[in-house]
Amino acid sequence: MNSFVIIASIIGLAQGAQWSYDYETQWPGVCRSGTQQSPINIMTQDALVDKHGAHIRGPLQFRGYSNVHVEATNNGHTLKWSNVIGTPAPTLSGGPLRGNYTFLQFHLHWLSEHAIDGMKYPLEIHMVHIKTGLTLEEALSRDDGLTVIGVMCELHTGPENEDALKQIMPDVPSLVDRNENPHDASFIDLSRLLSPNPQSYYTYHGSLTTPQCQEAVTWIVMDQPLHISDNQYKQFSKVDVGGMFNYRSLQPVNRVVYRSVASGSSIVTPGLLTLLVSTINGLASNLYYYAKKGKCLITNAKKKIITGIWTAECPKLLN
Ligand SMILES: *[C@@H]1O[C@H](CO)[C@@H](O)[C@H](O)[C@H]1NC(C)=O
Ligand SMILES: [Zn+2]
Repeated sequence: MNSFVIIASIIGLAQGAQWSYDYETQWPGVCRSGTQQSPINIMTQDALVDKHGAHIRGPLQFRGYSNVHVEATNNGHTLKWSNVIGTPAPTLSGGPLRGNYTFLQFHLHWLSEHAIDGMKYPLEIHMVHIKTGLTLEEALSRDDGLTVIGVMCELHTGPENEDALKQIMPDVPSLVDRNENPHDASFIDLSRLLSPNPQSYYTYHGSLTTPQCQEAVTWIVMDQPLHISDNQYKQFSKVDVGGMFNYRSLQPVNRVVYRSVASGSSIVTPGLLTLLVSTINGLASNLYYYAKKGKCLITNAKKKIITGIWTAECPKLLN
């Protein structure tokens, strides 16, 4: 190692050592005093389906995700692929967002940061976007300055599950060691890292999950996982992220989580109509079946159907 590399790695270490996943209680400021922190455990039955489109206005619109020039780094906490400065960046709008958001970078957490119904996934992809036209400093000081898409990944055996991460896996061996200098610039199809149904998601207001934990983030957590192969996943265990973990622990929810109509209700609603109709017709065998499985309290479900304020309290009912 020549002296330049030694000095560079000492500086790198010093920067990286400012915070660690092993010592979350020592994270500064808002990380500890904030009330809208992320990640959270998303309970499907507590999420509000925004049927009338008051909060979620229309579908998410993804522009320019199919060919993105990115360069990779291991920043000592995660593997990150950033949009190469000066090249066209994808933009996101619609759904819960007001205005356009420009893609900055995506990075990975293993295990997942968010949990869904108490369940963590092996890997979560975060695609970070900034409100178009703002500087990072401006964005971090507003509650709508950033939006992050979270995509869960589920492990399956076999090469047929390698498509989603195929584009980025060749970068991983050269990212095993911390190195702040971006490398491995390449063009990737970012849409392949979105979930199988990108209109199906939970959304809530929260924070960055790393210091300074600014509460500037509209979270969009997709509810349908990507499939990745167990062989791909093994590669991440070799990556140096400065400690054993690269995910933050779950934070108190204490706020509303919305579900897109495409998530809960497009699946659940037709079933519920069937359920309602069968109740009216006195054909209660469905209800009996679901009640027996103990998946939800049918009286509640019925009441909610009839009063029309279905809040996805019984989402597993028709799975
Ligand atoms: C968002 O971007 C689209 C496409 O470039 C543009 O037509 C639209 O006016 C933009 N919206 C805002 C609020 O800037
Ligand atoms: Zn993240």
